[in-house]
Amino acid sequence: MTVKTIIIGHGAREHVIGETLVRDGADLYAFMSSKNAGLEDLSKGKIKIHSETDFKEIIEYSKENKIDFAVIGPEAPLVIGIVDALERNGIPCVGPGIEAAQLEGSKIFTRSLLEKYKITSNIFSKSFNSMENIKSYINEVGEENIVVKPDGLTGGKGVKVYGDHLFSKRDILDYCQALVDQKASFLLEEKVEGEEFTLQTFVDGKNVIGTPLVQDHKRAYEDDTGPNTGGMGSYSMENHLMPFITQEDVNEAIEDMKKVVAATKAETGVEYKGFLYGGYIKTAKGIKLIEFNARLGDPEAMNTLPILKTNFLDICMGIINGNLKSDIEFDKKATVCKYLAPEGYPTSPKKDELVVINKEKLEQIGAKYYYASVYREGENVYTTSSRAMGIIGIANDLEGAEKVAEQGVGCISGKLFYRKDIGTRKLLQKRIDHMNSLLQ
Ligand code: GLY
Repeated sequence: MTVKTIIIGHGAREHVIGETLVRDGADLYAFMSSKNAGLEDLSKGKIKIHSETDFKEIIEYSKENKIDFAVIGPEAPLVIGIVDALERNGIPCVGPGIEAAQLEGSKIFTRSLLEKYKITSNIFSKSFNSMENIKSYINEVGEENIVVKPDGLTGGKGVKVYGDHLFSKRDILDYCQALVDQKASFLLEEKVEGEEFTLQTFVDGKNVIGTPLVQDHKRAYEDDTGPNTGGMGSYSMENHLMPFITQEDVNEAIEDMKKVVAATKAETGVEYKGFLYGGYIKTAKGIKLIEFNARLGDPEAMNTLPILKTNFLDICMGIINGNLKSDIEFDKKATVCKYLAPEGYPTSPKKDELVVINKEKLEQIGAKYYYASVYREGENVYTTSSRAMGIIGIANDLEGAEKVAEQGVGCISGKLFYRKDIGTRKLLQKRIDHMNSLLQ
């Protein structure tokens, strides 16, 4: 019997989720706020273009098409309760309910939870919603040790770090004042130094199953310079670790996430089900949590799903039914994702520019490609104001995967740019040296 699934969302992450569902036998439908050409093709046109937070429409469309289950791609519908709304209407979902999705929706909720349940990956932080006591707090911890994090979703743009975006006590105070003026709550968090890694997991309420580690690159330009972006690309290694992250580190992070899942249930009464993204950093003091996301990563989903060997529909059903099996397998391959973005992104992106894709050559090379924020008119594809396409190389080792990704990038032309350094040995060595210098 064919399983009818609906994907909610319109980006490259949703494109790769849709591709994996179809690969493993799903009859795909897509509900998206703007048309993703890849999802349009994979679903053979069974799409609805409408707001991804209009639950009434999503429920109606799903019921009309007798959908067996929904997979929720982005965070915005999750944190306002899409799963609760769909499940009340008999549509099972891969994604956490509103209470559990607070792990992404509220940084204050997450830090308080970690503190209350004495979870060791926590870092020191204090929440504020006025300017009272802020000056004395900054004096106490030192301005150079501060990260300011607004409480709610900010699309990766609200977090400001001393030394990267804030350069004096005045800068910190001005930013805090701006948040107070917007009536926002926020955290002043301890700044930690180390190497970041992404651990994406499948969670069925109790079991937390890890997937290959990935490292994302947030800065727009080579050598980690320029403004922060949604992520310019990422890589994963054939042994599913990072050269600076050991299996013991991963085990520690998984144990940490299991405790968080149990604590979420104890605190809210709701089981966490869905994808749980752990954004961790390895420091001289061990593994620390930067953030949780209640979804897969973008670009990180493009590194892991294409090498998933286990049937993805079985994983989704395991999440929904609370009986996820632990023997989930991935190919022992390395992957490199390079994101192509419109020239000028993220500050002044060139919109409505033609993107020419040589699909035949991409196929010959064996590079995969996923549509992000581009639109298709007739046979042509055009840029919008965000990242355009993710190009993926998969091979037996990192060098091979990077080469395929580079060749794949060469099959796309237009007013676009990308980071040539992602997935290169040189950048990897820089990360290894950085970690070694901290651990000495
Ligand atoms: N790669 C960062 C994120 O998905 O939030």
